[in-house]
Amino acid sequence: MAFETLLLFGATGDLARRMLLPSLYALHADGLVAAHLRIVGTARSDLDDGAYRDFARAALEEFLPEERKDAGALASFLERLSYQPLDASTPEGFPALADKVGDTSKGMAIFLSTAPFLFEPTIAGLKSAGLAGDNVRIGLEKPLGTDLASSREINDAVAAAFPEERTFRIDHYLGKETVQNLLALRFANMMFEPLWNANGIDHVQITVSETVGLEGRVGFYDGAGALRDMVQNHMLQLLALVAMEPPASFDATAVRDEKVKVLRSLRRIDADSAATHSVTGQYGAGASKGEAVPGYADELGKPSDTETFVAIKAHVDNWRWHGVPFYLRTGKRLPTRQSEIFIQFKNIPHSIFAKKGGKLQANKMIIRLQPEENIRLQVMAKEPGLDRGGIVLREVPLDLSLTHAFAGARRRIAYERLLLDLIEGDPTLFVRRDEVEAQWDWIDAIRAGWAANGMTPKTYGAGSWGPSAAIALTERDGVTWHD
Ligand code: BG6
Repeated sequence: MAFETLLLFGATGDLARRMLLPSLYALHADGLVAAHLRIVGTARSDLDDGAYRDFARAALEEFLPEERKDAGALASFLERLSYQPLDASTPEGFPALADKVGDTSKGMAIFLSTAPFLFEPTIAGLKSAGLAGDNVRIGLEKPLGTDLASSREINDAVAAAFPEERTFRIDHYLGKETVQNLLALRFANMMFEPLWNANGIDHVQITVSETVGLEGRVGFYDGAGALRDMVQNHMLQLLALVAMEPPASFDATAVRDEKVKVLRSLRRIDADSAATHSVTGQYGAGASKGEAVPGYADELGKPSDTETFVAIKAHVDNWRWHGVPFYLRTGKRLPTRQSEIFIQFKNIPHSIFAKKGGKLQANKMIIRLQPEENIRLQVMAKEPGLDRGGIVLREVPLDLSLTHAFAGARRRIAYERLLLDLIEGDPTLFVRRDEVEAQWDWIDAIRAGWAANGMTPKTYGAGSWGPSAAIALTERDGVTWHD
C-alpha cells in the first residue's frame, strides 16, 4: 500500500540531519516514493513549516554528496515537508499533531528517533490522539532499553498501541548492502553452504572498529558502553546472519525465525566464564590518525567505568557450530574504521606439498562492510617459476569487489533501504521482539558476570587495537585477530 504520510519524531536531531533527510531526499530524487507522500516532522523546537524546510535544506547542503545535489529535486523534496512542534513527554500537544497530520486512513508510517524516556509517553500520546490506527506502522530507532527488563517495558508499551506486525525495530546494520549480500553469498551460491559448519570452518571473527571517540555523546554513551551500544544489536545481528540455518524463503517470518534460533543458542557467558571469555577496555590518551587525542575520562570530564572496547569469545551451541568460536571485537579510538566478518576455514586434511616445501594456509573469507564493501576469498596458488624439486605456494585473494562489480550502482545509505521498507511495509530487515529480547538476555548475563568478577575496563592507548588481554583472548586458542 502506498502510504500517504511519514511522521518523523526527532525531526531536528542529529540522525535526521545526517541520515534520515538525506535518505528521504535520495528516495524522492530516484522516484522511489509515491508522489503524494507527505513528510511531517516533529520535535521540541518551535519551528513552522518554512523554518523546518530551511533546516532540512541546510542539512542536505551539508550532508549530501555534491553529485546528488539537484536544485529541482531539492525544491520538490522540500515541498513534501511540514512541521509541528511537540513536547512528547506530555499528552497536551498530540491533538494538534493529529490535526497537522490529518487523515491517516490511507496509511501512515511513523519513525521514532527520540530519547528512550520519551518512548512510552509518545506511544500513549499517539494512541490517545487516534494516531495509532490499523493503517499506522511504527519504526523504532535504538536504544530500545538498557537491559532485558527495560526493553520489555518499552516493547510492552509499544505493543499496547501497535501489534508486532506493525512494529519495525531498526538496526541500521541490516540496511547495509554487504550485510544483505551476506545472505546472497550464503544462499544464492552452491559452493559455500556445504562448508559452512563446524566441519569446514575453524572460527569466525567479527570486528567493528571505529576511530572516533565519544563525539560529544556524553549523556548517552557513558550510560551504555560498547557492549550495549554495539554488541547487543549490530554485532549479534551479524553473528546471527553468519550462523543461521537457510530460511525456507526470503520473507520476514522465515528469516527472523532462523535468526532468533541462533540468538537463543548462544552459550551464556556468566560469572563463571566472563573473565575467560570477555575483555573490556577504555581508551586512554593516544593518537588517532596522527593527531594526539585525550583519553575517554578526560573527554568525559570525570572518571568512569564505561567500556569503550569489548572483545568476546562466543559459542553457538547447536550441531552446525559445535566447537567453533565466534570472536567479537568492537571499540572506539581503534587504529582504523573497519567492519568485517572474517571466516577462517579448516586446514586441508592432508597436504601433498609438504615434502616439497610448500607451506599451506587455511582458506579465509573476508566480508568487508566498511570502509569499502568487498568480499574476498583467500586461496592457495602456486607462485610462477621453475622451482627445482619444490613448489612455492602463496596465499592470493580472489576478489569480489562489489564496488567494481557494480560500478554503475550508487552506494546507498542503510537508512534509504530501511525507510523505504518501513514505508512499503516489508519487515524482513527489521528486528522482531523475540530477537531483541534474546539479545538482551545474553548481554545481561555478561554484564552480571563482569559485576560478579569485579571486572573493570583495562586502559588501552587511543589508536591501538585495545588492551593486550584482547590479544591474549584469541592467542590462547592459537588464533590471531585479523587486522
Ligand atoms: C551506532 C552506535 O548504533 O552505530 C554508534 O550508537 C556507532 O556508537 C555507530 O558509532 C556505528 O555505525 P556505522 O554505520 O558508522 O558503523
